[in-house]
Amino acid sequence: MNPISIKEFTIYFENQGFDALNQWIKNQQPSTIFILVDDKTMENCYPYLMPMIETIANIEVIEIDHGEEFKNIETCAGVWSALVELGCDRNSLMINLGGGVITDLGGFVASTIKRGIPFIHIPTSLLGMVDAAIGGKNGVDLGHLKNQIGVINPPIMTVVDPEFLKTLPQQHLVNGSIEMFKHGLISDRMYWNEMIESTDFNSDMFNSLIYQSAIIKSDIVSMDPLEKGARKALNYGHTAGHAIESFLMEDKDKNAVLHGEAVAAGILVESFLSHKNTGLAQTSYQEIKEWYVSLELNFSFTDDEVLEMIDLMKYDKKNVNGQIKFVLLETIGSFVTDQVVSTEQILEAFRELKK
Ligand SMILES: NC(=O)c1ccc[n+]([C@@H]2O[C@H](COP(=O)([O-])OP(=O)(O)OC[C@H]3O[C@@H](n4cnc5c(N)ncnc54)[C@H](O)[C@@H]3O)[C@@H](O)[C@H]2O)c1
Ligand SMILES: [Zn+2]
Repeated sequence: MNPISIKEFTIYFENQGFDALNQWIKNQQPSTIFILVDDKTMENCYPYLMPMIETIANIEVIEIDHGEEFKNIETCAGVWSALVELGCDRNSLMINLGGGVITDLGGFVASTIKRGIPFIHIPTSLLGMVDAAIGGKNGVDLGHLKNQIGVINPPIMTVVDPEFLKTLPQQHLVNGSIEMFKHGLISDRMYWNEMIESTDFNSDMFNSLIYQSAIIKSDIVSMDPLEKGARKALNYGHTAGHAIESFLMEDKDKNAVLHGEAVAAGILVESFLSHKNTGLAQTSYQEIKEWYVSLELNFSFTDDEVLEMIDLMKYDKKNVNGQIKFVLLETIGSFVTDQVVSTEQILEAFRELKK
């Protein structure tokens, strides 16, 4: 597969990726190569990566605990200290080997240590390959508030190798696939159809869908690096999805959901709103609903709970003056931004989750 190269960064696939990585190391001769992992990627991904790296440079591994709860400034402080103790200088390289937590946190740490050292992302989760490791956004959470601290600073390159997915738990495969479906909905009807037809996460066909998804995300980011227009479309399903995530996170009695699961429910809600407001055909809405039902997610909220979530949406950093602005679909494959809808319609849309 050909590398995807946009203005500031490049995504390489499979062996081409490791060749490019080795070439970069050969040319730049980093003083030390730091590899950031979490305990799971240390166990499952590091043994695959190591033989791929050809260098006589000193390699140091820094390991953190896995999970979103460690994507915070305390963990950064630990990694900054480890880097300094292990002799990090401006000529060091950092390789972030893991899911979105590792690439977000590692990119931020590398961007800030010694006023910034070069870094390379090697995403090992599906979400990382098609979303988190593309676009140059890095950062960490502040308490319960997600991604509040960070920078936009692209990696030298992102190396995507679906081989890593062989050890990724099924729930995380489904989680990452939701963003791929979203890519189809906002930009490419054919891609959506192919996603619907694909059933095996470990096939050549699926690898090619990962490649196409990475192209869709990087194209959108390159068109709109500052998130003024087209990039807003990447938030499809996320206005309602983030509200669901925050609502369930605040209430300790309710089980926390994965980001993708909440976004899938958000996609159904926003597709209903699209059908009512921006001309998404009934048949297209039905198709999206069938996909949602097939995920067997079982979200169900009372009207009072939805009203609480509507309040949460108003505080979303992407909205201004308490007005909730949605990205909605006109068809599967095309969208419009900045759509305002009534509270009654949002309530009605959330009721669809139960049907
Ligand atoms: N920067 C961006 O543009 C962007 C976009 C989307 C999401 N994100 C961020 O990404 C994060 C979510 O990413 P995620 O879903 O990859 O979470 P994650 O990094 O927590 O990975 C999910 C789980 O899978 C494990 N894992 C990863 N790769 C594995 C492998 N190959 N084998 C076995 N286990 C493996 C991890 O240890 C973790 O337990 C969130 O923090 C989100 O904010 C960032
Ligand atoms: Zn998302």
